[in-house]
Amino acid sequence: MADKKIIAVVGATGAQGSGLVKAILADPSGGFSARAITRDPNSEKARELARLGAEVVAGDVDDQASLTKAFAGAYGAYCVTFFWAHFSPEKELAEATAMARAAKAAGVKHVIWSTLEDSRKWISLEDNRMPTLQGKYKVPHFDSKGDADQVFTALGVPTTFLLTSFYWENFIYFGMGPKKGPDGVLGITLPLGDQKLPGMASDDIGACAYGVFKNGGAFIGKRVGIAGEHLTGAQMAAGFSKALGQPVRYNEVAPEVYRSFGFPGADDLGNMFQFNRDFSGDFCAARNLDVSRKLNPALKSFDTWLSENKSRIPLQ
Ligand SMILES: NC(=O)c1ccc[n+]([C@@H]2O[C@H](COP(=O)([O-])OP(=O)(O)OC[C@H]3O[C@@H](n4cnc5c(N)ncnc54)[C@H](OP(=O)(O)O)[C@@H]3O)[C@@H](O)[C@H]2O)c1
Repeated sequence: MADKKIIAVVGATGAQGSGLVKAILADPSGGFSARAITRDPNSEKARELARLGAEVVAGDVDDQASLTKAFAGAYGAYCVTFFWAHFSPEKELAEATAMARAAKAAGVKHVIWSTLEDSRKWISLEDNRMPTLQGKYKVPHFDSKGDADQVFTALGVPTTFLLTSFYWENFIYFGMGPKKGPDGVLGITLPLGDQKLPGMASDDIGACAYGVFKNGGAFIGKRVGIAGEHLTGAQMAAGFSKALGQPVRYNEVAPEVYRSFGFPGADDLGNMFQFNRDFSGDFCAARNLDVSRKLNPALKSFDTWLSENKSRIPLQ
């Protein structure tokens, strides 16, 4: 244990971080140990990680000093932010900045920063194809992560920029699952046209990140995109139909219709899907499936994910 390289994991009780902690613990001869960072080491989820063999330490991305302490002595750190807890790009940038500064102060050798594209490099703020949100963003939860890339770089933190993908768990937890239409037939509603969306099991993000750490310094300074599959709305609907044993259709809507749905963040997600639809080629190319599978040979397909999770998908 003592000679293992410690990976300090922010968000360890959440979707991305728990996948990494579990990947490290599942490979006891891999040379790494997991340090799970949580705001509450006594929570049920934190205690479960301790039972599985992780070191559990307190840390809060709003408190840089707590992060520096939590990163001390670690070889690596997995850094992720929590946009949907507050919907504020400025706060997300502050969270990322606190992690970058803490990693620098603690002398962490390899940081993986869980990022996304700055959409404004494709659609300028003056471009009226989609509304500008919160004053200076097109896709706020993407753009602030893109802004944060520059903070890790400027501070000279040895960083891998991990471009993640749409979690298929959004069909379970984010209200995006199949819903019955007026004719009683289930449908998934997305503004994707006929374009492909890179998606993945959220656990596989952490498993791919573990693959990045296992590659030593090879990915430091690089951007690495990951996905389980690139699928159109129609292909996802076909997967649902097969898994659920009943027809599920793809309801294609326009991005402006999606933005008007009214749930918190609908405007951000409407812009996100439109960005993904209009630049699907670039978005998929940045998330190479072979690279993802090399990092994580157990990478799940959508069909595999569905067969494991279909009973958890709320059908309305
Ligand atoms: N949903 C998607 O499809 C998708 C796709 C790509 C990227 N993302 C991005 O993923 C990010 C969220 O990651 P996730 O899904 O892994 O999060 P998550 O499942 O919501 O988990 C977040 C975990 O982080 C911890 N946390 C929350 N606030 C914290 C704070 N202030 N300090 C320290 N820890 C804190 C919580 O643990 P404790 O309570 O134990 O502290 C929680 O368990 C978002 O920025 C989102 O944009 C999402």
